[in-house]
Amino acid sequence: MLSLRSRALPLARNLRFISTWSYVPAGPPDPILGVTEAFKADKDPRKINLGVGAYRDENGKPFVLPSVKSAEERIHAAKQDKEYLPITGLADFTKLASKLAYGEDSEPLRNGFIASTQSISGTGALRVGAAFLARHYPGVKTVYLPVPSWGNHTPLFRDSGIEVKGYRYFDKKTVGLDFAGLKEDLEAAAENSIVLLHACAHNPTGVDPTPEQWAEISQIVQKRSLFPFFDMAYQGFASGDTTRDAYALRYFVKQGHQVALAQSFAKNMGLYGERVGLFSLTTGSQDERARVDSQIKIVVRPMYSNPPIHGARIASTILGDPQLYGQWLTEVKGMADRIISMREVLYNTLTHELKTPGEWGHIKSQIGMFSFTGLTAPQTKALAENAHIYMTSDGRISMAGLNSSNIKYFAESVDAAVRGRL
Ligand SMILES: Cc1ncc(COP(=O)(O)O)c(C=O)c1O
Repeated sequence: MLSLRSRALPLARNLRFISTWSYVPAGPPDPILGVTEAFKADKDPRKINLGVGAYRDENGKPFVLPSVKSAEERIHAAKQDKEYLPITGLADFTKLASKLAYGEDSEPLRNGFIASTQSISGTGALRVGAAFLARHYPGVKTVYLPVPSWGNHTPLFRDSGIEVKGYRYFDKKTVGLDFAGLKEDLEAAAENSIVLLHACAHNPTGVDPTPEQWAEISQIVQKRSLFPFFDMAYQGFASGDTTRDAYALRYFVKQGHQVALAQSFAKNMGLYGERVGLFSLTTGSQDERARVDSQIKIVVRPMYSNPPIHGARIASTILGDPQLYGQWLTEVKGMADRIISMREVLYNTLTHELKTPGEWGHIKSQIGMFSFTGLTAPQTKALAENAHIYMTSDGRISMAGLNSSNIKYFAESVDAAVRGRL
């Protein structure tokens, strides 16, 4: 009789003591989580972690928003049950999250043309969206991603069966937008393919198009019949104003584009671990919306049946209550403003105080959680090994990791690295 082990591994039937998983090769470590591990192992008291994309307060600590705490108290007091949600999530949440993104006066919203589902944060929204497009998008199943983009976009679309190509986005020389390259690449993109656009606070570069540039992008998207898929992981967190940060999305919708949208409440509500987000699509009629909704359910059901309840309750309690909503807007602005003030201090210290060689204007002009500093891989290595400052090797820093206690030490270390003295 065959042993259980050899039956599970028909290829190795004769190798009696070989383990089922012995042929699995080790995968590469995650580049961002690897930074956190190195940081944790470092015992130096001056150490700074600028790798992880999570907000830290002025004391370098994780921050639970007071509006979130109040919402949780209300939820607790209401003694709600823990039953399953429907496949597409909490109806109050999906309605309010759509309103936050598209705006109260949005035509597709008012007409009931928006199909949506609660998702496992922004990543889950992108994944459900990619799976839906892989099954139902009638055009070319190729997505064009900005180069560079958030590291998870490529595997996420590929694993969903969508081919991935790139369009130029970042110009290393100017540390800004390569707008000519972007236009050229989108003009040359296959007609009817998909284009992924970061709605605001582009990750990892912190470089966003201006309203005039968005207008040109919209025209090319229209001319090439591209399908715009917006990733909005930072609404409110970028400028401190949720309306301003939704500008590009709302502009495209007003121009008559049909769009897909992935939203996340990880950053703007600090709900990183609650995993609450929304995937939505604008459709052409209520009947079409109902058909699309039914197919979204068919995509979601075999993935995870239905989403978790707690984060959606927190978000909908905040978005649905005028007092809590107002408080939350102030708190989002507080987080964004602290980051913006760190940009000012860092720029001034490097440029005026230390007179660090190079041009540092991009530190101030970049938007959102991240800054692409322009530091080289050897400089980031020297900063980690000799100054205990950790960031990804492409020179991206999370501005949220800086505060008034560590920013001087950081600027001085950058100065030393740039001068080759570290
Ligand atoms: C551009 C972008 N999209 C999506 C996400 C998804 O984040 P989450 O799944 O935590 O909401 C992130 C997170 O860093 C991001 O930067």
